[in-house]
This record gives sequence, structure tokens and C-alpha cells, in this order.
Amino acid sequence: MKSISLIALCCVMVVFGGLPFTSNAQLDPLFYVKTCPQLHTIVQDIIRNVTRQDPRMPASLIRLHFHDCFVQGCDASVLLNNTATIESEQEAAPNINSLRGFNVVNRIKLAVDNACPNLVSCADILTLAAEKSSVMTGGPSWPVPLGRRDSLTANRALANKSLPAPFFSLTQLKSAFAAQGLNTVDLVTLSGAHTFGKARCRFITDRLYNFNNTGQPDPTLNTAYLQQLQIQCPQNGSGDVRVAFDPITPGRLDKQFYNNLQVKKGLLQSDQELFSTPDADTISLVNTLHEINY
Ligand code: HEM
Ligand SMILES: *[C@@H]1O[C@H](CO)[C@@H](O)[C@H](O)[C@H]1NC(C)=O
Ligand SMILES: *[C@@H]1O[C@H](CO)[C@@H](O)[C@H](O)[C@H]1NC(C)=O
Ligand SMILES: *[C@@H]1O[C@H](CO)[C@@H](O)[C@H](O)[C@H]1NC(C)=O
Ligand SMILES: *[C@@H]1O[C@H](CO)[C@@H](O)[C@H](O)[C@H]1NC(C)=O
Ligand SMILES: *[C@@H]1O[C@H](CO)[C@@H](O)[C@H](O)[C@H]1NC(C)=O
Repeated sequence: MKSISLIALCCVMVVFGGLPFTSNAQLDPLFYVKTCPQLHTIVQDIIRNVTRQDPRMPASLIRLHFHDCFVQGCDASVLLNNTATIESEQEAAPNINSLRGFNVVNRIKLAVDNACPNLVSCADILTLAAEKSSVMTGGPSWPVPLGRRDSLTANRALANKSLPAPFFSLTQLKSAFAAQGLNTVDLVTLSGAHTFGKARCRFITDRLYNFNNTGQPDPTLNTAYLQQLQIQCPQNGSGDVRVAFDPITPGRLDKQFYNNLQVKKGLLQSDQELFSTPDADTISLVNTLHEINY
């Protein structure tokens, strides 16, 4: 169990550390230790304060980091606004009306620049914010490699193309992750972030009422859970209503996600695929990750 837990944690670190994403830089958790010793405290304090008013914010910040990293690496390209030469990633299909936390990142950047002028990159702030958000909600901690440079360009078309969609099959999920240098263990580990935060009804109405044009709900959806979700997301209701990924511990980065999959209570099709795809190699990973300690 110990080694498996280490493997799982390493995967989290690898992704959040940005290692598989192309970069020539030498990253180091101690990169700012002399030049900005207050960095960790500043990031942590602001997120903690914001989370008191907005318990969903740690989930939103972790997702922001994921959506940054899947598009030309963990380079803060997701933060860039529209200009004459930039088409912002914020308006890409997977991001529009969905990503949140930009104001929090701006607040952190201002406070960090106040303490250590013009030193810490936004890419490092996003990466650190993800780790602090994890620890603050009961998830793992990891040494965050630092020293990233911020991108001067964004790529909306690449965001459209690279980010996985909630109706992806397991094969499609694996290839979206493989395109980032991430393997199947990474896929199942990182999908565990769908244990907190919220998703809009629009992404599950087909599962609830007309899965794959069958006129029936998704057969891999637990019937009691199906009924709860049908109440929250009525057939012709607004697709913009939001439901919790994990009704049991909605604000905790715990292992409940894996337990939910085992009882057919994955919210998105792409979540449940990990456990309900016949003979998939991800089934045993779900069972293992449900057991690990970190
Ligand atoms: C495996 C493929 C994935 C798919 C298809 C996917 C898809 C989605 C979708 C559709 C939503 C809801 C968006 C909305 O309603 O506006 C969402 C939310 C979320 N995703 Fe994923 N996601 C995936 C992987 C990940 C990964 C790797 C992470 C982080 C490690 C992550 C973290 C989150 C979080 C925390 C939320 C909730 C955000 C909030 O409440 O603001 N997801 N995801
Ligand atoms: C957090 O909130 C406390 C109490 O409201 C305040 O004293 C502190 O300055 C805030 N810290 C940050 C970093 O916003
Ligand atoms: C993007 O625009 C917002 C709103 O005007 C602003 O607060 C933010 O600083 C801008 N971000 C960048 C990276 O220029
Ligand atoms: C991204 O996808 C959206 C929705 O499919 C589409 O309207 C938009 O044109 C795409 N943008 C780019 C730059 O590919
Ligand atoms: C959806 O329907 C198509 C055609 O009937 C079938 O080939 C496919 O396997 C179905 N997909 C799922 C996820 O059930
Ligand atoms: C939803 O709309 C469809 C198409 O307009 C209609 O056939 C159906 O009866 C409606 N369902 C409910 C529950 O209102």
C-alpha cells in the first residue's frame, strides 16, 4: 500500500509540478526561498480568506491550473486576456462561463508583487494555489517545483482541442492525457479532483433523460442517484444550474470520488467510464486509489 500511495502522490506531483509539460527550465521547490520567503504564506492566506466566503474556490483554483497546464504547458496562458494579437483561452469552449478564480489569482499576484516586486511568475502562483487548495480541503501536499516563466501567448484553438470533454469515452480520455505525456494512472488519479466543486446540468442532461439517443437514462447511473439528479436538473430546466460533484463531502478533496464510482455515482459520463467500461484497466486503479493513504 505504501508504494502505491507513493506512486499516486508522485503522479499528482508530476502533473501539478508541470514536469511532463515541455519546458527547458530547471524547476526547484526552493526557487524563491531566499528572494521571496513569504510566498507560500501569502498564497495560503489569501486562498484561506476567500474560501471562507466561497467554499468552492479551492476546487475552482485546481481546475484553473489543470486548464492552464493542458494548453501549451503550465505557463499561465489561461490568464491572458483578449488583445489585438491574442485570442484568450478563457473563451474556448471548455472554459467559457465556467472557469473561475481569476480575481483570486489577481489578488495573490498583487500581494506577492507587493512583498517581492516583479519576481514571482503567474504560472508559479497558479501552481502553488493548486497545492494550497489541496491541502486546505483535506487533500495531499507536495513540494511544488517553481521557477516557471509566463507565456506571452495564448491559444484558444489548442484549448478547444486539448481539453477533455465530459462525454469522452475512456479511449478518448486516455488519448487526451497521453497527448500531455500523462498515463492511465495519471488519468485516474487526477480525475479524483472531481470529488469537490460543481458542474452544470447541461453536461449531464443526456445521461438523465436520453443517453446516447436511447430515450433512456445512462444505465451506468445508480437509480437512487439518478432520481436525485433528475430533481436537481429537470428535463427542460436551465442547463446552467450547478450540482455538486460529490454530494457527500462537496468541499473536501478526499477519496470519496472513487467510492462514488464504485456505486455508479460518478457525475459525468467521463467519470463513470473509469469504472464502468467493461474490462478496463482503470477499474482496478479506482479500487486501489480508493484504499490509499496520503
Ligand atoms: C478527465 C477528464 C476531465 C473532464 C472531461 C472534465 C470535465 C469537467 C467539467 C465538464 C466540469 C464542469 C464545468 C462546468 O460545469 O462549467 C468540470 C469541473 C471540475 N473539474 Fe474537471 N474534467 C476532467 C479532468 C479534471 C482534472 C484533471 C482536474 C484537476 C486535477 C479537474 C478538476 C475539476 C474541478 C475541481 C471541477 C469543479 C470546478 C468548480 O467547481 O469551479 N477536472 N470538469
Ligand atoms: C484575512 O482575513 C483576516 C480577518 O478578516 C484579515 O485580518 C487578514 O488581513 C486577511 N488576510 C488576507 C491575506 O487577506
Ligand atoms: C484581464 O482583464 C481583467 C479585467 O479587466 C484584469 O483585472 C486582469 O488583470 C487582466 N489580466 C491580464 C493578465 O492582463
Ligand atoms: C472553439 O470552440 C468553439 C465551440 O465549438 C467555437 O465556436 C470556436 O470557434 C472555437 N475557437 C477556435 C479558435 O478554434
Ligand atoms: C452509443 O450508441 C452507439 C450506436 O448505437 C454505440 O455504438 C455506442 O457504443 C454507444 N455508446 C455508449 C457509451 O453507450
Ligand atoms: C420537455 O420538452 C420536450 C420537447 O419540447 C417535451 O416533449 C417534453 O414533454 C418536455 N418534458 C417535460 C418534463 O416538461
